[in-house]
Amino acid sequence: MDFLAIESSCDETAAAVVRDGRQVRSSVIHSQAAEHGLYGGVVPEIASRRHIENVVWVVEAALKEANCSLKELSGIAVTAAPGLIGALLVGVNYAKGLCLSGSLPLIPVHHLRGHIAANYIEYPDLTPPYTALVVSGGHSHLVKVEDYTRFSVLGRTRDDAPGETYDKVARALGLGYPGGVLIDKLSKEGDPKQVVLPTPQLSGNKLDFSFSGIKTAIVNLLHNAQQKGESLPTADVAAALNQKIADILTTHAMAALDSTGDKILAVSGGVSANSLLRERLGTACEKRGVRLCLPPLSLCGDNAAMIGAQGYYQYQAGLIGSLSQNAFACMELEEEFV
Ligand code: KG4
Ligand code: ZN
Repeated sequence: MDFLAIESSCDETAAAVVRDGRQVRSSVIHSQAAEHGLYGGVVPEIASRRHIENVVWVVEAALKEANCSLKELSGIAVTAAPGLIGALLVGVNYAKGLCLSGSLPLIPVHHLRGHIAANYIEYPDLTPPYTALVVSGGHSHLVKVEDYTRFSVLGRTRDDAPGETYDKVARALGLGYPGGVLIDKLSKEGDPKQVVLPTPQLSGNKLDFSFSGIKTAIVNLLHNAQQKGESLPTADVAAALNQKIADILTTHAMAALDSTGDKILAVSGGVSANSLLRERLGTACEKRGVRLCLPPLSLCGDNAAMIGAQGYYQYQAGLIGSLSQNAFACMELEEEFV
């Protein structure tokens, strides 16, 4: 079964054709990052306008690359939550129009469920149950994946997401946008021991995260240096931040595995592209005899192939939307659209 998938929740307009939830027949991604970079972060209205301009050719290119017509599809999967509402509405509305013209079922997909499903593409034998760590620009979740469409959130960030922390620190340091990949690269030239960053201490759920204190600590260091007419050793700050985030995510992921007893950890989301995080998780999982699943870099950030993978399983579970489907800026991972 072939599904067309559309993703427009943030600053990537993406479309893909995915067969049986596992095989990517085409994947087209148009990134707006360069334009948002001029403003130091995503400008929601610009994102919506660019999606409007690009969604038609991106979808046409994905269908052409897969050598597939609307008639040959079994349905259209689209990210309907969470994300920038104006951006989501473009993808959802365009998907609805295509469903109407092709008499196809519409399958609304939760963006984070999509990120989790990226690993089904890379690992054809990966099946639930397992433990997932989803780390992106807007989210940080530890999840028990009970089944393809059943999830329990074990822990989540109480403030900033790790990607957001990278982006905000990079902006403060004048490095550019998106910050994660820039800090990842720069950190290789720095010494993390030169900059001491706090480790967040949370009461309550030990699997929750907090990253805003680390961001504030770096902004304070920056202000103090500026007041003294000094400059910060940017590469050392980048290395310290990279190490702190990788350590926190790895420690929490191992604690989540302790609580679930799972022997599989699947990691995904834009921050899963981080080289140090991949290395740390690799070492920790090997020590415990846990299988680590990590998507290739092309499937870490936002893409439509992952939405097509999850869309297939949502369809199999009968979770099909209608032409009155709405989009939602916020939605819990455990919630259903229908
Ligand atoms: O999953 P994604 O593409 O979009 C959201 O759903 O948010 O994640 C984007 C985030 C950005 O914050 C970006 O800075 C971060 O992923 N990112 C990275 C790396 N590459 C992208 N963070 C750390 N290291 C990287 N190599
Ligand atoms: Zn994402």
